[in-house]
Amino acid sequence: MNPTLNRRTFLGNTTLLGASLAAGSVFAQAPAGGSKKVKVALIGCGGRGNGALGDFLEACKILGLEAQLVATGDAFKAQAEGTGKKFGLAPDKCFGGYDAYQKVVATDCDYVLMATPPAFRPLHFAAAVEAGKHCFIEKPVAVDPAGARSVLATGEKATAKGLAVVTGTQRRHQADYLRNKARIDAGAIGKIKGGVVQWNGTVPWIKRRNEGESDASYITRNWVNFTELSGDHIVEQHVHNLDVAVWFLGRLPIAANGFGGRARRETGNQFDFFSVDYDFGDDVHIHSQCRQLTGTHQHVGEMFTGTEGSCYGGGKLNGKQVAIPEIKVDSNNSMVQEHVDMIRSVMTGKPLNDAKRIAEVTLVAIMGRISCYTGQLIRWNDVLSNDKSPFYNQACTPAAIDFEKGPIQLPAEVAAVPGKA
Ligand SMILES: NC(=O)c1ccc[n+]([C@@H]2O[C@H](COP(=O)([O-])OP(=O)(O)OC[C@H]3O[C@@H](n4cnc5c(N)ncnc54)[C@H](O)[C@@H]3O)[C@@H](O)[C@H]2O)c1
Repeated sequence: MNPTLNRRTFLGNTTLLGASLAAGSVFAQAPAGGSKKVKVALIGCGGRGNGALGDFLEACKILGLEAQLVATGDAFKAQAEGTGKKFGLAPDKCFGGYDAYQKVVATDCDYVLMATPPAFRPLHFAAAVEAGKHCFIEKPVAVDPAGARSVLATGEKATAKGLAVVTGTQRRHQADYLRNKARIDAGAIGKIKGGVVQWNGTVPWIKRRNEGESDASYITRNWVNFTELSGDHIVEQHVHNLDVAVWFLGRLPIAANGFGGRARRETGNQFDFFSVDYDFGDDVHIHSQCRQLTGTHQHVGEMFTGTEGSCYGGGKLNGKQVAIPEIKVDSNNSMVQEHVDMIRSVMTGKPLNDAKRIAEVTLVAIMGRISCYTGQLIRWNDVLSNDKSPFYNQACTPAAIDFEKGPIQLPAEVAAVPGKA
């Protein structure tokens, strides 16, 4: 599968049109007096932010809602204004700077879409929930264990406030994946005994430092090459495939033991490749592999072996015929469907809250990265609950809040050395 296609426009190959709830019945149960108006704001106006906004607007169309963009926010004002211009928003509603998120959540928007580099997600998500907004939070949602635990806590606050939280793990909203998951749960391949999940592709981009550019500006623009902002690509990108493993198995791993390295990345401090053995207990292991290296074999996907068959992610399933409920989606674009599902859940008074799930799978990916960087076996409890573990408090610096306080110092552009890190 082409990684670019997979990343940006992951389309279902089997789609049934027709929502399980017709738009009319959604409005009949709409809490806000049946209002058809929805106000949305965006934080992080880059590639995915603009994409997510378009997907949100498309979802509103499907649900017969009138959507209004009320604010944009970006570290760079020009980015916020660029999106504003594209979607007909006045420049004074387009906020720039590292504190732009505070101005966005202070508006009267109902929904906030968040698509900055992942390091900022815990801070921005907490502010949005504090302000009482429904949230779409792009994956991954943190870069270190403390960040993931913060998202877990904010997710609980969102539940208490009746807010929806949906995340950009679009395979969970994609008909072919949903069908295979239902088949597996119905016993089509027996018990899953192992598998492999992969994102083997290329470096998405490299941004070089401009003459006289500040450390903050450079690392923000070149964020996919710095662990402090991206979590490294095992977290930033491969989290999609790890999410499928956790979803299909229905449980979290108990430990990760991996290795990786850097061969020829030109900027930043990330690894080029990771290979992690995730121990899911009960003698079940999943091999996680990810690589960003031009000129190498490329493949993105998941494969699971069961006691009575096998399954390739949302693709071919070799196993028993089983009966499953009909899976219906409104859009053959799962990145639109995730917004339909979020908005509909609000309209029907049953807000979806994916915060725990995405915080946990982000932490699964972080656990794998820490194992590869250090060369140590990392247990789930080391990153989630054991505050005596040296890995529990591992933090990336600069942290999100540092960018608001003043100049930051660029981390060294060298990779971790296993056994010494
Ligand atoms: N679900 C998917 O398949 C998918 C695909 C692509 C990207 N993503 C995720 O979306 C997020 C954004 O990725 P992208 O490709 O759009 O990156 P991008 O670099 O194109 O956009 C990021 C934007 O955020 C802005 N920004 C950076 N720091 C900020 C801050 N502190 N406050 C406000 N704005 C800030 C940047 O200036 C930029 O405009 C990442 O978490 C990425 O993993 C998900």
